[in-house]
Amino acid sequence: MVFKRISDVRTENEIGSTVSLKGWIHRLRKQKEKTFIILRDDRGDIIQAVCPSSLCENLTIESSVEITGRLQKDNRAVEGGFELKVDKILVYNIAAKDYPIGEYQSDEILLDYRHLSLRTRKMINVGKIRAVLLKYSRDWFDKERWVEITPPLLVKGAVEGGATLFEVKYFDNTVYLSQSSQLYLESMIYSLGPVWTISPSFRAERSRTIRHLAEFSHLEAEIPWIGLSDLISIQENLVFDIISKIRVYNKKEIEFLDKNSLDKLEVISTPFERISYENAIDKLRSKEFKIKDEEGNERIIEWGDDLNIESERELTKDKTSPIFVTEYPMKIKPFYVKQNPADKSTGLAVDLLAPYGFGEISGGGIREDDLSNLKKRMDQSKLNINDYKWYLDLRKYGSVPHGGFGLGIERLLRWILNFDDIKDVTLFPRTMSRVLP
Ligand code: 4AD
Repeated sequence: MVFKRISDVRTENEIGSTVSLKGWIHRLRKQKEKTFIILRDDRGDIIQAVCPSSLCENLTIESSVEITGRLQKDNRAVEGGFELKVDKILVYNIAAKDYPIGEYQSDEILLDYRHLSLRTRKMINVGKIRAVLLKYSRDWFDKERWVEITPPLLVKGAVEGGATLFEVKYFDNTVYLSQSSQLYLESMIYSLGPVWTISPSFRAERSRTIRHLAEFSHLEAEIPWIGLSDLISIQENLVFDIISKIRVYNKKEIEFLDKNSLDKLEVISTPFERISYENAIDKLRSKEFKIKDEEGNERIIEWGDDLNIESERELTKDKTSPIFVTEYPMKIKPFYVKQNPADKSTGLAVDLLAPYGFGEISGGGIREDDLSNLKKRMDQSKLNINDYKWYLDLRKYGSVPHGGFGLGIERLLRWILNFDDIKDVTLFPRTMSRVLP
């Protein structure tokens, strides 16, 4: 250990001993004789310190310091009743007086100053849960012996439709930011078997919603020789394993962020319900659920309509565990979806919807593995075959049945933490109106 942190000294054994702690002035209350400090260390833990005001004259919020003193017990002190009686302060930097983050700040200001608001205890806890979520995912894939890959992010072709592509000038050409690593993962199953990645994906989403980002962290997986039912079980297993670990090992962070979310996580159980798209539409129609058509007119939802945010909310608002919706109409799914042999109007696609109205967190399914069918679908989608020649080679040389899925890490977090807005679980959110800081 290079130096001691707050969590190292906050123990009964250390009471009475002299300790030094490095950190930032999180809160400051100056009185005539004494100054009370809440020190925050680089792990986001806090401890109360009291020092003679003569030592603290210049101190400001967010100044970086090393404080030294005797550790004592004071039941009134924050987080466990430990207090440091300071007799020495080493200053690294006196922060400017106009620190813009106070206790009550509008969401917009907090986003404008995200580089600083990351130091709030809310964002510290979000950052921690985000990190363990990535770790638990990696642990699961490791345990199941999947191989992690890092795909290219500058690409020539669309995966999820041309409307949400970001163009990038690439020497004398135009390329795009990857919307999904799926096609590259597909190319890896022939040599590495089940493969996965967590990589950024980009969508030029024109919609300003509480669940869309222009850049998000995408957990994607692809596996050879698999059918829809087994693919669903893999997702169920992964998501349930992550939830199970979070509710055991991260109670403190979850409770800090939202007391109710732990109760909600406790009741999640497997198997997650599976319903077909057709049944989902029947359920919505039985409630006379309405959507707006392209001209803005309201009408009752019908077979063939995509499930939008509102319809997913309606389907999941009374659920306590996630649900899988399967076999969507081919006409609303991308070119790579395999036709359902039992019903040619539908495809072997599956979305995972989170409960309490949170809606889609993952999408995937079985891929079209037949060369001529795939070409036909690409023609119908008006894709330039030249950009996908390499992808078609995968069907030409040793094609196998295979499938996979993509899970949005921020969507998953938004549900787990019970937050409304996806921006709140994203360290540096990118949206239509925000690319700074
Ligand atoms: O449903 P999507 O578009 O599916 C794909 O990209 C597939 N190619 C994935 C695959 O099969 N490998 O996106 C998958 C997930 C969504 O369910 C959602 O969780 C997340 O990615 N996602 C977004 N998250 C935040 N902001 C956006 N704009 C998102 N678009 C998709």
